[in-house]
Amino acid sequence: MVKTIQWSEGKVIILDQSRLPLDVVYVECKAYEQVVDAIKNLKIRGAPAIGIAAAMGIGLAAQDIKAERFEDFVKALEPAYRSMLSARPTAVNISWALERIKKILERNRDHSISSLKKILVHEAERILLEDIEINRTIGMWGAQFINDGDCILTHCNAGSLATGGYGTATAPMLQARDQGKSFTVIADETRPVLQGARLTAWELMQEGIDVTLITDNAAGALMQKGAIDLAIVGTDRTARNGDVANKIGTYSVAVLCKEHNIPLYVTAPLSSIDFSIPSGEQIPIEERPPEEVTEIFGKCRIAPQGVRVRNIAFDVTPARMVRAIITEKGAFNPGDIKELAGHTRQIEKLRIKKEQ
Ligand code: MRU
Repeated sequence: MVKTIQWSEGKVIILDQSRLPLDVVYVECKAYEQVVDAIKNLKIRGAPAIGIAAAMGIGLAAQDIKAERFEDFVKALEPAYRSMLSARPTAVNISWALERIKKILERNRDHSISSLKKILVHEAERILLEDIEINRTIGMWGAQFINDGDCILTHCNAGSLATGGYGTATAPMLQARDQGKSFTVIADETRPVLQGARLTAWELMQEGIDVTLITDNAAGALMQKGAIDLAIVGTDRTARNGDVANKIGTYSVAVLCKEHNIPLYVTAPLSSIDFSIPSGEQIPIEERPPEEVTEIFGKCRIAPQGVRVRNIAFDVTPARMVRAIITEKGAFNPGDIKELAGHTRQIEKLRIKKEQ
């Protein structure tokens, strides 16, 4: 399994995803600003992974603080919180991780500053380890939707690289493989940053999973031929009503799935569900630099100089287009996930079983 990020000897070590699959290079961050830069420039990306990076970044920021009182220590962390939060707006995992960090600090306010610094690093490492376990559980619930002989479409990268490890959308695939099921995967290349081509294809090949790469435009033609049985994607932020924000192009996949009666599953750890917003309309959608569209990785210009560009990085798929949202608590109808906030009802009753 690929190691996306880890804390080692006072540094945050990040596998530089902007250079994959050609170069496997690790970036060593000694200051939180370097973590912010890595998040902004997609050296680390994927909702759960950037949540972990933000928590580790706060761990780094804390080490340099000279404060002696709890209040001063917490105040001195604020610039780091602000930079992390503004690094990428769509994924809710950054604010989720920061909230968790703030709570752990508050709970331990009686400790010395040097012990608080250790507690922060420990908590960030816990977020990472828990994420891997959560992904395995998502895989366990999700594998039931994969049948022998299926061909699964996936979009962007919601694999190990996008998480602490094991992935979300890839987790049901890994579990199905371990259960002895035989299936194939189609990876959309995912313009403009090519997470599907560069990352998902690379990861799945390393796992020995039969993967075929297609251009984003080819998914419809394959569905028309009956070549795709189901689609599984991840999410950056899912609203309380089950609307799903994910990589640009996910909505197009959802519309195609609807037309061809193909089930679309969304894998979503609870850390990616924003129970505070009623619908997808409130999800902030990141727009990224035009050069990602007009150039091939800064090496070759492919559009006229001066052309107007909109590089919209995410879209929102309405809940009604999603067959099930697969979380670590089980698979649910999108309309039922609001019940997961604080587990207000017996969620066992709401879990959906294998597709009939
Ligand atoms: O811009 P990216 O590469 O960070 O976008 C990532 C995605 O859209 C993933 O599908 C999402 O973060 C889920 S990752 C488990």
